[in-house]
Amino acid sequence: MRRKVAAGNWKMNGLKASIAELKALKASTAGANCDIIICPPATLIAAMAAVSGDIIIGGQDCHWNETGAHTGDTSAEMLKDAGAGAVILGHSERRADHGETDAEVNKKTLAAWRAGLQAIVCVGETEAQRDAGETLDVIGGQLDGSTPDATTAANTIVAYEPVWAIGTGRTPTLEEVAEVHDYLRAKLVTRFGDEIGNGIRLLYGGSVKPGNAVEIFAVSNVDGGLVGGASLKATDFSGIVSAAES
Ligand code: 13P
Repeated sequence: MRRKVAAGNWKMNGLKASIAELKALKASTAGANCDIIICPPATLIAAMAAVSGDIIIGGQDCHWNETGAHTGDTSAEMLKDAGAGAVILGHSERRADHGETDAEVNKKTLAAWRAGLQAIVCVGETEAQRDAGETLDVIGGQLDGSTPDATTAANTIVAYEPVWAIGTGRTPTLEEVAEVHDYLRAKLVTRFGDEIGNGIRLLYGGSVKPGNAVEIFAVSNVDGGLVGGASLKATDFSGIVSAAES
């Protein structure tokens, strides 16, 4: 049995006043039977980790080097030092806005492990790629390229986020979600063996809301969600945490 995960990606949203949302989430989800991860902007990690209780605080990106002349970047060790337990890597917004490649995501994943962080590695096709029938090839290539050989269920979570479903209110059909997640599961088992391949959690992301989380999380090989907009308010996200518990 894979323990489900409700992960929130706050993206570039949140000021110190938003720590109240984390506290409200902590109160409303105490004792939840799933892993809860909140990834705020880097500026809030330390303050949120100090009050998060069982909620794991995560980063949204890291550099692959531990230190050095990389103005504006944050290393995995710095995230860990601030109190993070996880980091999102290879989000489509990083791939699109900053040209991140699979090889770079792979190096960042190794850095996350080096620092003792769980990596949440993201894959996902654009609408044009889906329309061209390339979805499985695209995400299969991203998975192969972005995950190091030493990937385990403990050090890595994989998130499938179709780019066209992010922030749009549109989601794939449940059959389309199942097709991708079953494909990712089979690839993980082939590459890493039964135990590791079947142990790695596979999250769905893209317009997950309290109203659709139950049906999405019930899909074959969906082990929870990576949630953007609906993770910003504790009232919304606690509904998604409840869906992950069922
Ligand atoms: P939305 O839930 O806002 O569609 O964002 C999904 C996402 O990109 C999470 O990483």
